[in-house]
Amino acid sequence: MKTIRLDKLLARQGFGSRRDTGRLIRSGQVRVNGAVCTKVDAHIEPFADTVTVADAPVALQRDIYLMMNKRAGVVCSRKDSRYESVFDSIREEDSASFSDGALHTVGRLDADTEGLLLLTTDGALTHRLISPKNHIAKTYEITLEHAADESEQRRCAELIAAGIGIARDGPDAAYVCRPAQLAFRGGTHCTLVITEGRYHQVKRMIAACGNGVAYLKRTALGPLVLDESLAPGEYRALTEEELAQLQEL
Ligand code: URA
Repeated sequence: MKTIRLDKLLARQGFGSRRDTGRLIRSGQVRVNGAVCTKVDAHIEPFADTVTVADAPVALQRDIYLMMNKRAGVVCSRKDSRYESVFDSIREEDSASFSDGALHTVGRLDADTEGLLLLTTDGALTHRLISPKNHIAKTYEITLEHAADESEQRRCAELIAAGIGIARDGPDAAYVCRPAQLAFRGGTHCTLVITEGRYHQVKRMIAACGNGVAYLKRTALGPLVLDESLAPGEYRALTEEELAQLQEL
């Protein structure tokens, strides 16, 4: 059963910062299963334990898991001088109880990238999905800037299958990518499956092939597939089945 630290749980439920909730716990006003608990790092099971603050019950909330079809023109950081944030479109009922910033994106998509973005409060799941050790597959649909004829398509697919070298970009050094799969559907449309997630990785891989990305959309993250009935910018909670698939990873 997944547990959460008492100070963190109270911070999520709106009792202030971790420092505030630490003070509250030490003051003796917090009870766990009826007994006063002054241990800030006590571990609580949200479905099994009851917590009260000054005798008032605290609603223990499960982690939340949201699938968004990110639209272009928004960023994954919380604040940006030029763009709106994906967090601006999260409805009050989904974010209100997580005032400590626990809701986060699993990895990032660029401002101009669309498609599957997972948002969750479950840090352990995020860690599993983005850890470079786990090689979780990510699928992208790409529209290229320049049409590639058949021999060019073959050349690009081979370079990428062998592990293509990408140039330095901003904070990220030059790097040889893990072997990946590029499949064409006509001269400008292709699907790329990669098992890592470096800064601007898809754009750098396509640039290393001598082309450019005109449009980029992520359609899958591990077993999770974008629900195409979500319009760009819309999101919904994961189904039980989608969540179970992710938790098996
Ligand atoms: N690779 C990119 O270049 N951009 C993204 O948004 C995601 C992967």
